Amino acid sequence: MRRQSARLADAVESIPERFRNAHKWTWDKKRQRVIDAAVATGGHLLLTGLPGQGKSAIACAILGRRLQSVQHDCATWAEVEDASTIRFISDPDLCRAEAMHPLGSKVDSPMYMAGLHASLLVLDDLGFDLASRRHPGAELVMARYNARRPTIVTTGHTRSVVEERWGGGVGRRIWTQSFGINCDEFPAMEAVR
Ligand SMILES: Nc1ncnc2c1ncn2[C@@H]1O[C@H](COP(=O)(O)OP(=O)(O)OP(=O)(O)O)[C@@H](O)[C@H]1O
Ligand SMILES: [Mg+2]
Repeated sequence: MRRQSARLADAVESIPERFRNAHKWTWDKKRQRVIDAAVATGGHLLLTGLPGQGKSAIACAILGRRLQSVQHDCATWAEVEDASTIRFISDPDLCRAEAMHPLGSKVDSPMYMAGLHASLLVLDDLGFDLASRRHPGAELVMARYNARRPTIVTTGHTRSVVEERWGGGVGRRIWTQSFGINCDEFPAMEAVR
C-alpha cells in the first residue's frame, strides 16, 4: 500500500486540496448518480453550469473514486501505473504554464504533456480566457479525443460563446463527443467557505 500511495502521489496532488476528499462528501442523489455513472463508464464528460454548482467538485469526486479503486492490496501494478497518470489540470494553470515555458511554442510544457498522457484528465474551467490568442486547453482536449483518451471538461461557457471565439470544430468536438451534464438542473449546493 505504501508503494501504491507513493506512485499515486502526483495524481492525488494534482487535485486541488479543497476537493481532494470530494469522493467522500455526502452528495445529493442527482450528483451522486453522475459520479457513479462516470466512474462506471470512464468516458468523456462535459460538466457545464453556473459558478458554485459543483462542476469542479463532481469532477474531483470522479478522480478520487478512480484513485481509490486502485488503493487496495489486490490492485495489480499495471492498474496502479495506469492510475498514476491521472491528472487534474485547470485551463488557467495550463495557459500560464504554456506562456511561461522557456521554449515557447516550440515544445509543449510539462503540464501539457502530463495532460496529454493522462489515462483520465479533468480539464477544469475550459476557456476561462476565451479572448487569448493561444488556447492550449482546447488543443489538449482535441489531441486527447484523437488519441481516444477520456477527458472530463468543466466550463462555465455555453457552446455558442465557445464557437464564436474558437470556431465550430472546437465546439463540436467538445459538445457532441462527450456526455453533457448541465449542473444548473441540480439543487443548489450548500455554500462551504
Ligand atoms: N466539504 C464540502 N462539502 C460539501 N460542499 C462543499 C464542500 N466544500 C465546498 N463545498 C461547496 O461545493 C461547491 C463547489 O463548487 P465548485 O467549485 O465545484 O463549483 P463550480 O461549478 O466548479 O464553480 P466555478 O464555475 O466557480 O468553478 C461550493 O458551493 C462549495 O461551497
Ligand atoms: Mg469550478
